[in-house]
Amino acid sequence: MDLTRVFDSAHAVHAASVHMPLSLGLLGLPLAILALLAPNRWPGVRLFGSAFFLLICLAAATGAYTGERAASELVAFADKDIETVVAYHRLLGWSVAALALVTCVLLTASHFRARSGGRASAGFATLSALALAVVLLYTGSSGGRLVYGWGIGTPVAGADGTSGATLVVGGKAPDSMPVISPALASVAAPADATYTPNVLPIDPADAASITFTKDIVPLLEQHCVKCHGAQNAEAGLDLSTHAGILKGGDYAGPAVVPGAPDSSPMVLHIRGVYLPKMPKDVAELTESELHTIRMWIAAAAKGE
Ligand code: HEC
Repeated sequence: MDLTRVFDSAHAVHAASVHMPLSLGLLGLPLAILALLAPNRWPGVRLFGSAFFLLICLAAATGAYTGERAASELVAFADKDIETVVAYHRLLGWSVAALALVTCVLLTASHFRARSGGRASAGFATLSALALAVVLLYTGSSGGRLVYGWGIGTPVAGADGTSGATLVVGGKAPDSMPVISPALASVAAPADATYTPNVLPIDPADAASITFTKDIVPLLEQHCVKCHGAQNAEAGLDLSTHAGILKGGDYAGPAVVPGAPDSSPMVLHIRGVYLPKMPKDVAELTESELHTIRMWIAAAAKGE
């Protein structure tokens, strides 16, 4: 597994970038208290503190910026609560950066006003560092709620627990989401009114008659291999071989879940439940072509 691949996802980048402001921000509070109470024992403490809070500000702004990018990948929210918490989390994140900047300015002021004591500025700096720490804890807990409570930006298990898919839409509480397709169906309905899951019922006898080489390969060659071939595998997904399909891509995991067509990323991408809709930017598959793919997957997605 290539660990640097993790940074292909805006959500992973955001998750990685928020720990720095979190730890620095909490360390800043004792430093601000020290700057208030013991400026003479350590003459440089206020100036050092102001540089430290500038660092917190930069780290927090980076965290907030990566958060904006991750948020821009969310296409729809399963319920209103998630949307509210995302908005709240975003506001809190930027507030941390703002409070760090304020603390930095106040500490600088208290350093240069040392002759007249500079205690008032140092006192306000300590208050603002305290507010920063509190806002930081709320930012962290709201972010945690989005990730652990609703699975925002995380891989969720497929119907049979084997496949993983990046959930870029607002999820549902894990206990109400044992299977991927019903949750996504409810999510996708408002965003794409034409989305109707399980349009055509699958007849097992018909499904058994579909073969990979005769029915599926030509379809993929016509619609997908231009972008998902061995040479130029977009998102790391090579649809030109059976092994490549089972291996899957970087984000959605195995492109098919044998036996579960409507939980398979290939079908979800073709339907536009997972974005971008496939085949990207070109004419979509007909319902009967999609039905052929679904039947093949339903009959275990065999390689011959
Ligand atoms: C014009 C180029 C193009 C065509 C044609 C195309 N795709 Fe894609 N596909 C992409 C790109 C680009 C991505 C990565 C999208 C992203 O994550 O932003 C992608 C991603 C995917 C993924 C997710 C892979 C992963 O794990 O991240 C699947 C599944 C997929 N495509 C299936 C298909 C299927 C099936 C077809 C044919 C019906 C198809 N694509 C045709 C460009 C294309």
